Amino acid sequence: MDQRTRLRDRAAAVGAGVPCAPEVVVNGEARSLGGDGSVTPSTTLAWYLRERLGLTGLKVPCDQGACGACTVIMDGRAVLSCMILAVEAGGHEILTIEGLAGDDCVVEAFAEQSEPGYGTALQCGYCTPGFVMASRALLDRRPLPTPSEIKEQLSGNICRCGCYAGIARAVHNASERLRARTGGS
Ligand code: FES
Ligand code: FES
Repeated sequence: MDQRTRLRDRAAAVGAGVPCAPEVVVNGEARSLGGDGSVTPSTTLAWYLRERLGLTGLKVPCDQGACGACTVIMDGRAVLSCMILAVEAGGHEILTIEGLAGDDCVVEAFAEQSEPGYGTALQCGYCTPGFVMASRALLDRRPLPTPSEIKEQLSGNICRCGCYAGIARAVHNASERLRARTGGS
C-alpha cells in the first residue's frame, strides 16, 4: 500500500467519525482546525499550513511523500506535512520554518555555506525549508551528529540543484555554531 492510499484510508476513518482535537499549536500559537469549514477530513497538514495559515515556507512539489520539501517539525520530530491530515495534527505542536528564531544556527549555516570543496547549500532555494527543518529536528535530538547521521536524517529530502555536499556541510557547521553558543564540548 503506497503512502497516498494510506492517507486516503486515514481520511476515510476521520470522515467516519474518529474524534480529533479541535486545535493545533503552530509556531507557539493555538490555531483552530474548524471555523470556516475549509478543513475537511482529507485536508492535508501541508495545505492547512500554506493555504489556511499562509505559512508558505514549506513547499509541496510532489504531494506524495517523496521529496521532503514539505517537512515541518511535529512534537519535536521531522514529518512530511503532505502525508499528515490536518485533523491528525490536532492536539499536537507544529513548528514551521517561519517559527524559527531569526538567528537560528541552521538557517545561518545554510545561508552562509560557501566553503570550497563543498559548494553552496542552496541555489534556487526551493528545497531549503524542508532541509532546514529536517536538520533542525536532528540537531535538537543530536547536537553533534556524525556525517552518517546527517546523511540518514536527510535521506528523504531531494535537492534538484544537487547541493548535497554543501547541505551536509551546512548541517555540520550548524552543529559547530550550536556548540559554540551553548558552550558544549
Ligand atoms: S511535498 Fe511532501 S514529500 Fe514532497
Ligand atoms: S537548491 Fe534548488 S532544489 Fe535544492
